[in-house]
Amino acid sequence: MTLDLPVTEAAKKTLPDAQTVTAVKHWSDSLFSFRVTRPASLRFRSGEFVMIGLPGDNGKPILRAYSIASPNWDDELEFYSIKVPDGPLTSRLQHIQPGDEIILRPKPVGTLVLDALLPGKRLWFLATGTGIAPFASLMRDPETYERFEQVVMMHTCRTAEELVYGAELVNNLRHDPLLGELYGEDFAKRLMYYPTTTREPSPFMGRITDNLSSGKVLTDLNLPPISPETDRAMICGSLAFNVDVKAVLEGFGMHEGANSEPREFVVEKAFVGDGV
Ligand code: FAD
Ligand code: A2P
Repeated sequence: MTLDLPVTEAAKKTLPDAQTVTAVKHWSDSLFSFRVTRPASLRFRSGEFVMIGLPGDNGKPILRAYSIASPNWDDELEFYSIKVPDGPLTSRLQHIQPGDEIILRPKPVGTLVLDALLPGKRLWFLATGTGIAPFASLMRDPETYERFEQVVMMHTCRTAEELVYGAELVNNLRHDPLLGELYGEDFAKRLMYYPTTTREPSPFMGRITDNLSSGKVLTDLNLPPISPETDRAMICGSLAFNVDVKAVLEGFGMHEGANSEPREFVVEKAFVGDGV
């Protein structure tokens, strides 16, 4: 005997919390970005992260934390992702195509938000690898430039290829009609960009920790010294990177803050490393 069960509306829906992929761009063998539809109810602060994923083989979703790389005014959501060869999520996520669905849990959280910093004049974004993702959001948010006179984006990767997503983003921003209208010719000074590599030659080289402690970045960009009175910072990289940058900033007299207690800098992990 067979049972003819009615197909309910809920059963027809593909995935719970599903969003549709609208665009995918591969930047290298190990990096890609993609855009998805934005749930109408999703409100977030630029710099926050959400959980995204795909259904697993056993029906249980494989979810991972992802910084939202698009600003909060954008109609869609953008993400910038690593491709981990054997990674439970990204070994599959890297194959998504426009029209596919991903799971997105609409509960944004995170410490890399403007509200977690005391008011200041100059804001440093310090990132390695995919740690640039939350800053891709904040760099595109006009509120960042309303709160700070100057933003310095330092992004360091092993190779020049890994810098291209950020470089293209900054270049597009410098030609953005809205920001151009607001800040005109001045915008190149409002948003300074300092990309460096550590394992192949490029115009600027070296670790962020070294370039900050030696003052090389200040010399190269012709900037005044770092002071806890005027400077604020956000850090996003591996755990080791975060720990070392934090120590450098503390050396400048700056202290770590949080949503509940704004201070001179905030930190977030770009990923959870093996065994960490
Ligand atoms: P996993 O099992 O999660 O990771 C396997 C190993 O790969 C890890 O142990 C680590 O050694 C390495 N790894 C994982 N992610 C990265 C990475 N991003 N860069 C370098 N090595 C990595 N990832 C992104 O690609 N983009 C983001 O915007 C992003 N935002 C995050 C925000 C937060 C707060 C946290 C905690 C993590 C974030 N991640 C981000 C990492 C992400 O959650 C996953 O780890 C990543 O997508 C890989 O998933 P996976 O299942 O394929 O492999
Ligand atoms: P390096 O090539 O000198 O190790 P990774 O891929 O290992 O996460 O590193 C990404 C980038 O961050 C690399 O350019 C790497 O430099 C740099 N980096 C890694 N660890 C640190 C750290 N503890 N302090 C400063 N920079 C770091």
